[in-house]
Amino acid sequence: MKTSRITELLNIEYPIIQGGMAWISDANLAAAVSEAGGLGIISGVGSTDDVRAEIKKTKSLTKKPFGINIMLMRDNIDEIAKLVCDEQIAVVTTGAGSPGKYIEDWKKHNVKVIPVVPSVAIAKRMEKFGADAVIVEGMEAGGHIGQLTTMSLVPQVVDAVDIPVIAAGGIGDGRGMAASLMLGACGVQMGTRFLVSDECKVHENYKDRVLNAKDIDTEVTGTSTSHPVRVLRNKLTREYIKLEKTNADPTEIEALGKGALRRAVVDGDINNGSVMAGQIAGLVSKKQSCEEIINELMSELDLVLGRVCNE
Ligand SMILES: Cc1cc2nc3c(=O)[nH]c(=O)nc-3n(C[C@H](O)[C@H](O)[C@H](O)COP(=O)(O)O)c2cc1C
Repeated sequence: MKTSRITELLNIEYPIIQGGMAWISDANLAAAVSEAGGLGIISGVGSTDDVRAEIKKTKSLTKKPFGINIMLMRDNIDEIAKLVCDEQIAVVTTGAGSPGKYIEDWKKHNVKVIPVVPSVAIAKRMEKFGADAVIVEGMEAGGHIGQLTTMSLVPQVVDAVDIPVIAAGGIGDGRGMAASLMLGACGVQMGTRFLVSDECKVHENYKDRVLNAKDIDTEVTGTSTSHPVRVLRNKLTREYIKLEKTNADPTEIEALGKGALRRAVVDGDINNGSVMAGQIAGLVSKKQSCEEIINELMSELDLVLGRVCNE
C-alpha cells in the first residue's frame, strides 16, 4: 500500500506526516522526513524572522514538499500566515484555533490547508471553510490534546466529512498505520516516534526518556486550566498536579510550565522540564534515521495488510 488520497493531494510517496512540534520540528527534521518520502513539517512558532530563516533552510535541504505548523493563538500569526503565501509553502497544518480567515488567501497561493481537529463538529466546520483534509488527533498523542481517542474519533470524522482524513495520536508502527487505514483514514501523522529520530534536535536525555518510557508513563497536566498537555511523568508533573489538585491560582500553575519545554528540549533537564510525548512512547524503543523509520513503517504496513487480506 503506497498511494492514497493523501499521497496524491500532497504529492508525496508515502502517507506518513511528521507532526509539527513547537521548538522541535526544524528544517533538519522536516527535510529528512520529506527526503524519505513522507511529509516533514517545520514549526511556525517563533519570531517571524526565525520562521522565515527555517523555511529557507528547509528549501535548501530538500526540493520535495514540506509543510509548516501554525499555532493560531500566537501574536505574530498574521505575519506568519502571510509568510506562508510569500514562500509558497506546500502545506499548512493548524492548531489552537480556527484558521478560517486565512484559508482563502492560502488557497489562492496554492497552499494545501490541513487543520488538526479534536471533534466531529470542528472537522465539519473546517471542511465548510475549505480545508483540503483534516488531521484527526486523539488524546493518546503527545503535546496539547483533546478529549477523544483516535480509535473512536477517526471513524466518526470519516463518516462526517468528504475530505481526506489523517489519523494522529498513538500511532507508532505499521500496525498502528494499518489500523488507521481500517478506520477510514488515508494517512497518519506521528510525533512521538520522530522525537527519537537521529535528525530530531531534542536533547539526548529527552530521547532516552522516551526510549525508556513504559506504557503507563504519561500524564496529562493542565486540565484545570483547560489546556491539557500529555507529557512523560517527572518531578515537574508531580508538582503541577499537586497544585491543580489543591485548586491553586491558575497563574501560579501556568508559571510552573513557563519555559518548561525548552528546559527539556535544549537543556536536557528531564526532571524539571516538560517532556512532551504520547502514550505510544512505550512502544518506541530504538533510535533510527527518519529514512529508516519510514521504510520500516511501510514494510510493516505491507506485512500487516497482506496478512489481513489473506486471512
Ligand atoms: C513534543 C511534541 C510537541 C508537539 N507540538 C505540537 C505543535 O506545536 N503543534 C501541533 O499542532 N501539534 C504538536 N504536537 C502534536 C504532533 O504534531 C502530533 O500530532 C502528535 O505527536 C501525534 O501523536 P503521537 O505523539 O502519538 O505520535 C506535538 C507533539 C509532541 C510529542
